[in-house]
Amino acid sequence: MEHCKPQAFKFILKVGYYGYSSEMQLGLLAVTLLLVVGLSGHYFYTGRKTKQKTGPKAKFQSPVITPVSADFKWEETEPYPYRPFKKGPYNMTLALKKLDPNDLIALENTYLERIALREKLFDQTEFYACDDSAVDALKEMYRFIFGFMVKRYPQYFELTERGTSIHNRITQKFFPSDPADMKKEEILRLIATNIEEDMLIMLKNPSTGQFDEYILRSFITLMPAGFNPMTKLNKSLTAIHGPVPGYLQKLQISMNKFFSRVQPHEFIVRQNWSLQTHPNLCAPKGSHATKEEAEKLHPLFPNDLDFNKCFFRVEKQCVTRLPETGAIIMIIRTYTTSLMDLRADLSEEQKGIMCSAIDGISGDLALYKRRAIWGDAAKSFIRGESNGSQPIPRKHVFVH
Ligand code: HEM
Repeated sequence: MEHCKPQAFKFILKVGYYGYSSEMQLGLLAVTLLLVVGLSGHYFYTGRKTKQKTGPKAKFQSPVITPVSADFKWEETEPYPYRPFKKGPYNMTLALKKLDPNDLIALENTYLERIALREKLFDQTEFYACDDSAVDALKEMYRFIFGFMVKRYPQYFELTERGTSIHNRITQKFFPSDPADMKKEEILRLIATNIEEDMLIMLKNPSTGQFDEYILRSFITLMPAGFNPMTKLNKSLTAIHGPVPGYLQKLQISMNKFFSRVQPHEFIVRQNWSLQTHPNLCAPKGSHATKEEAEKLHPLFPNDLDFNKCFFRVEKQCVTRLPETGAIIMIIRTYTTSLMDLRADLSEEQKGIMCSAIDGISGDLALYKRRAIWGDAAKSFIRGESNGSQPIPRKHVFVH
């Protein structure tokens, strides 16, 4: 399966953002030299040399990006079934794993539906931003993302003959390969509406404050899970996580260390999961509560809920550092499975683990996640004690 299986990287040849398989090394070196000299239109998608901003040069080289097989079809590729819940008490840790760089951005059978939704959300919510300090990093991000798509999915993202445009063969749209002269809103729009993933760009605080932290300088967050992204722009990691109980004690130091140490061409992934009883992908509020709010919440009755419209939500968060600007980026894909489908999919053992994981969220974090509202109802449905108000499985189409 062409999917996210965290594993050790193979590093081969340092020719650009992405390397090539070993058989192609010599040929590519020659082609790269030719291209650098002759074909300026292909500059960013073939032979760009990277500057190493941090760490020893020899250690981190461009990752191998292997094209998906010729018979790969996005419309036949099921969303990857991530099930990251664990038995017992929830421990707040970084929970980082190595990521196979080939799994950075996925094409799955949700593509066209989600892209149409993202076009609408981009215009309606305007949940995107780029501080002037991050324009260079945003342009590098654009080349990085579309460089990846052209290498990984050549049958769907094709560099046109003169190298000035990319043809998205799924949407049948063309767009520039080089963002050098583009306005930031246009760059953000093209990223937002060509991939299902949201993205964040963080730059080190130049004023070297108390924690010497990374600051969120640009983002596309069309699928927030319970926060308004506009309130997070130009904030430090600590300030962003202000509402998260236990962040200062359990995550702050390790997270700042992690972000400072990530190297270019090092790819890391983490997943988090949550449950929601509303039918929206874009949820700027309603998933979290303060302690005072949480104490006034009443549990939902499982027989009142349509579990086709309640969702198990997983975020696959991929982190790396861009080699030119040194920005830290996060690429986030949101997976949603209705509790109706999840129950049908889980084994009896997995159902037990999931109920144990719901019980394992404790104290202030349980209040923050509003577990009082959904916890018992979800467990009752998963265990088969209730079938909810609409027992017949029905696909929900997200409109927001
Ligand atoms: C190693 C990386 C990270 C870890 C371990 C982490 C951890 C967490 C945790 C445990 C939560 C609580 C959410 C929940 O479980 O419901 C959270 C929330 C959140 N995180 Fe992160 N996070 C990471 C990176 C980031 C980055 C890079 C950003 C943005 C720059 C970010 C933005 C947020 C936001 C906006 C929330 C919601 C806060 C709110 O309720 O207002 N996270 N994070």
